[in-house]
Amino acid sequence: MNESLFILKGTIVYSKNQSELEIYEKSYLVCNNGVVEGIYKTLPEHLEKHLVIDYKDAILMPGITDLHIHAPQYAFRGFGMDMELLDWLEAYTFPEENKYHSLEYAKKAYESFVKNMKHSVTTRACVFATVHEQSTVLLMDLLEQSGLCTYVGKVNMDRNCPDYLKEETDNSVQSTLTWLNKVKEKEYKNTKPILTPRFIPSCSDDLMRQLGEIQKEYNLSVQSHLSENPEEVTWVKELCPWSENYGDAYYQFGLFGDKEKEPCKTVMAHCIYSDKNEVELMKKQGVFVAHCPESNSNLSSGIAPIRMYLEQGLQVGLGSDVAGGTTENMFRAMAHAIQVSKLRWRLQDSRWKPLGMEEAFYMATKGGGAFFGKVGSLEPGYEFDVLVIDDAELNREQLSIKQRLERIIYLADDRHIKAKYVKGRKLF
Ligand code: GUN
Ligand code: FE
Repeated sequence: MNESLFILKGTIVYSKNQSELEIYEKSYLVCNNGVVEGIYKTLPEHLEKHLVIDYKDAILMPGITDLHIHAPQYAFRGFGMDMELLDWLEAYTFPEENKYHSLEYAKKAYESFVKNMKHSVTTRACVFATVHEQSTVLLMDLLEQSGLCTYVGKVNMDRNCPDYLKEETDNSVQSTLTWLNKVKEKEYKNTKPILTPRFIPSCSDDLMRQLGEIQKEYNLSVQSHLSENPEEVTWVKELCPWSENYGDAYYQFGLFGDKEKEPCKTVMAHCIYSDKNEVELMKKQGVFVAHCPESNSNLSSGIAPIRMYLEQGLQVGLGSDVAGGTTENMFRAMAHAIQVSKLRWRLQDSRWKPLGMEEAFYMATKGGGAFFGKVGSLEPGYEFDVLVIDDAELNREQLSIKQRLERIIYLADDRHIKAKYVKGRKLF
């Protein structure tokens, strides 16, 4: 008997596309070797002898991708929410991130972060660490043990930050290479390094040029921040007068999406103030947008035109952006995406309709999951990342499946997760 084949039973929901759900009531979801083999209303004869786990009335949905989260900021979530980005970085973020030069502090803080991520609805994540190479490896060890599937980045910063965190340009490059070589030796299965220049204001042209070289040599993905705050965008214009826009500043160093022959998978958080040319460049280069609505509200950053991005065919996922966002619960990110889109439509630009539950669910599953490959759907061939949500406590009697999902998005949390699978492996 094929031991890597097993079957879950329940009500199955996934996104067919941006605006439509696919729903199979009380059906069988077959996992073969970590991948979805198919969905059946009644089990075909050749599968009858395999293990079936019956989750009864629970909902089976794809695991959720958090496209943007800062692990070291988990320890100060909820603080400084009366500030805007640049002041908040100086007052809260940099002092906290400095603590991660201590492996002892990092171990304690990262253990708490990883434990809570493991028990959250997130199955995949793009994670910022700090500039410290050793504690970044420690974080990666912990994430690998958790069974989650992640990209993790040692942050680069050689300007415009306090001296206690500022790297000398050459040290930043050396420390990145040391980190990458250590990670290679570890042979992690589910944890990959991702190049992480914090944002243009904190990386000199010289550093960016050298990171561009490292990207090519190691064939790395890239994560950073883009057009989040008006002052930040103005600052980048001053710092990089040679660039056409903020995105172009990354592009000119080869750190902004796919090049002609060499892939450089890139995710940029926020993209609130991207002008027409920047959006065109993101589209041409296949750059993923990590929409982080809670953070954008907390730091008074603004509201990204997500409906427009979706209609223009950009790749869009959701991010918690802890600690700009306060929670790692990605159901809340979905609800916030819907809520802020309504305010944008009402107060800012009525050309773009508010987002609905279908679009929010799509971004959190299939949209962001695409950064990891065939991830975020339960169609055959997708990696078997599955959440089993037991919403009995949310008064589900009399509700349609769609209504149940809507309520889950607004109200559910870790307590409603009955089981969680990543690549076919049961985490709990
Ligand atoms: N831009 C540069 N660094 C950060 C950060 O830590 N959080 C957010 N939200 N934006 C940033
Ligand atoms: Fe961020």
